[in-house]
Amino acid sequence: MSTPMNRRQLLKTGALLTGGLGLLPPLAGNLLAAGGHPAPADMFDALRHHATDESVMLAAPPELKARLAANENPFGPSLKAKKAIQESIGEGNRYPFMIGRELPNKIAAYENIPSSQILMSAGSSPILLAAAMYFSKDGGNVVTGDPSYDDLPDKAEDFKAKLIKVPLTADYKLDLDAMEKAINADTKLVYICNPNNPTATVVDTEKLRSFCERVSAKVPVFIDEAYIDYLDDPKAASMMDCVRKGQNVIIARTFSKLYGFAGLRVGYAVGQPATIRALGNYTNGIMSISVTSLSAAVAAYNDFEYLHEAKAKTQASKKFLYEVLEKEGYTYIPSAANFVMFPIKMDSNKFGMEMFKRGVAIRTWKFSGKEWCRISLGTMEEMQEFAKAFREIS
Ligand SMILES: Cc1ncc(COP(=O)(O)O)c(C=O)c1O
Repeated sequence: MSTPMNRRQLLKTGALLTGGLGLLPPLAGNLLAAGGHPAPADMFDALRHHATDESVMLAAPPELKARLAANENPFGPSLKAKKAIQESIGEGNRYPFMIGRELPNKIAAYENIPSSQILMSAGSSPILLAAAMYFSKDGGNVVTGDPSYDDLPDKAEDFKAKLIKVPLTADYKLDLDAMEKAINADTKLVYICNPNNPTATVVDTEKLRSFCERVSAKVPVFIDEAYIDYLDDPKAASMMDCVRKGQNVIIARTFSKLYGFAGLRVGYAVGQPATIRALGNYTNGIMSISVTSLSAAVAAYNDFEYLHEAKAKTQASKKFLYEVLEKEGYTYIPSAANFVMFPIKMDSNKFGMEMFKRGVAIRTWKFSGKEWCRISLGTMEEMQEFAKAFREIS
């Protein structure tokens, strides 16, 4: 992890795609085919450790038929968001001072939380990075699930923290009891991704609520709610009320998923005023988001008609996928989000490469002694492309 330039850092630099070939270690050099594009045949094996959605997408063949590797929402952004972008283009010469107030004020009103307890950012990734930096600056450890979304934990480890990775339960949910037991005197943060990425499982709401109440009295609890909008009743499942009650809970939210804003980059954190101020020292907040993206988010926020429609289309893709898997004799982890994890019957690297060859990008994992595919739920056409490829190789 502390090598001069580990794989994760290498991928972050963009060195895989751009110049600086001479600087690349031999492994990365092998990834590049003629023309500087990574050779798919080597890709999954080479990225076995520390693959990210970004690294897989960067290595995907250019003629992709189904982009199912990064849990994006293919149905967004909404018409209202697009219209707001067009209308605000002319304001591109202005700093986002006013519109930068409007969005947190709207969120504050809906969530019944003062806007001083909201920190805006360009997607939620900068919030995860800020939390990683802030909470690991004095060393200690971060408790997280395994597997879970590893962005915050990995970055905390890149700084000074040690990771305590707690395996999931037998039904692939975060093991809250074991996570609580794993906390020790050096723990600086507990990271809970709910619904969890990559398993798309949710923990019991009441159990998580009592976990937050007990644990946050000792250690800050970070709840990553990137996929919460996909649940039937996101408001009921959210831990926002823990923040309202004054508990030391930080919630990260993003417009990247159900709102379809992954490329527009809007997200935010909610927490206690002192924590929000502290995290604010590690991000540029509103100044890192464009006027056009903020305007789009103001127009799209709580557009329930659009949200409902995007969720329904995602559900239809999920149903189709479940049927394909069942027909081919595969099982899957029932999904509460816009992606599905299922065990595969071959080496996961080979599976990923064979999918790539057929123009389908997915992600692969190895855990609990099994090989897995995580597939994002795309349009029906994309799901059909996946089904075609899958039938050929399953
Ligand atoms: C659980 C989780 N949190 C946070 C993010 C970061 O997304 P963004 O920076 O687009 O908000 C992702 C992206 O896939 C995610 O899966």
